[in-house]
Amino acid sequence: MMRSTRLIGLSLLAAVAAATGAHAAGGKAKELKHNHWHFSGPFGTFDKDAVQRGFQVYEAVCANCHGVELLSFRNLGQKGGPFYLDKCPAGIPDSVDCSNPNENPVVKAIAANYKFQVTDGPDEFGEMFQRPALPSDRIPGPYPNEQIARLANNNALPPDLSLITKARHHGPDYLYSLLTGYEEPPSTVEVAPGQYYNPYYPGDMSQNLKPEYVAEDGSPAEGVEVPYGGVFAMAPPLFDGAIDYIDEDTPETVEQYAADVTEFLMWAAEPKMEARKSLGVVSMIYLFILAGLLYWSYRKIWSDAPH
Ligand code: HEC
Repeated sequence: MMRSTRLIGLSLLAAVAAATGAHAAGGKAKELKHNHWHFSGPFGTFDKDAVQRGFQVYEAVCANCHGVELLSFRNLGQKGGPFYLDKCPAGIPDSVDCSNPNENPVVKAIAANYKFQVTDGPDEFGEMFQRPALPSDRIPGPYPNEQIARLANNNALPPDLSLITKARHHGPDYLYSLLTGYEEPPSTVEVAPGQYYNPYYPGDMSQNLKPEYVAEDGSPAEGVEVPYGGVFAMAPPLFDGAIDYIDEDTPETVEQYAADVTEFLMWAAEPKMEARKSLGVVSMIYLFILAGLLYWSYRKIWSDAPH
């Protein structure tokens, strides 16, 4: 008993230390905006329409610089995926099984018309060639290699987004806050060309204070507040009205685009989340019934024992 209490105590301490360690480096990022996500909580599911729109935002904008290399087109049409079909739309021959992502006509069209083609080969002349994608292909990224990615982005490397919502603390809220949170840099700081200020980016703005706001020992001059956030090499990617949604009722705003692409990237990072959660709920119900039965049999067995 003692031992396990101590162990729990120690691991709690370690967790707290790890959490504060992340913040210890330099400045502070602004407190994240908290969105209500369809997928949060033990019963949360993905909002399919939002995931579909989010894929559209990803392809139209983010895919110009970021890959999602862990995803194949076929994943979009798997059960739980945004373009899954349990039966074929009218006009498709009976021989087609639309619940199979490789035969799903929507997924086939998305792959064939995707903004980038797939590099395949070599052909009979030993040359690599480009061809339209198939559902079984990985979603092709924008750059053939890291060097070209850096050349195109002021030497910064746009990370692959497949797991980004899991790779950052409070991933969905962070992503949403970052995408909607760009601001003009405060007047006390200088931002180099090719860098952009964002109060939610975990940086250290004390490095960017203009010389007149820095004391002789290099720390901020008296009364000067170090602004929240940091600078990084991603220009604000979203603008109101930049992407046309088919659904007329969905607002075409930065906030909506950001929420939708977050929903898509959350799905991308955990396409089996819904199955996992429903298994969790079933197990809880099972354990609850089991606990009731155990209690009842305990009472029964001991009811005759002398007191
Ligand atoms: C014009 C290119 C470009 C576009 C378009 C773009 N990004 Fe980026 N993004 C970058 C670069 C470059 C970085 C790396 C910046 C750095 O490390 O300084 C980055 C970094 C990021 C990061 C990592 C931030 C962190 O915490 O390290 C996320 C998340 C991100 N982008 C999401 C997106 C999303 C979502 C979209 C689409 C809405 C998008 N980006 C569109 C270039 C782009």
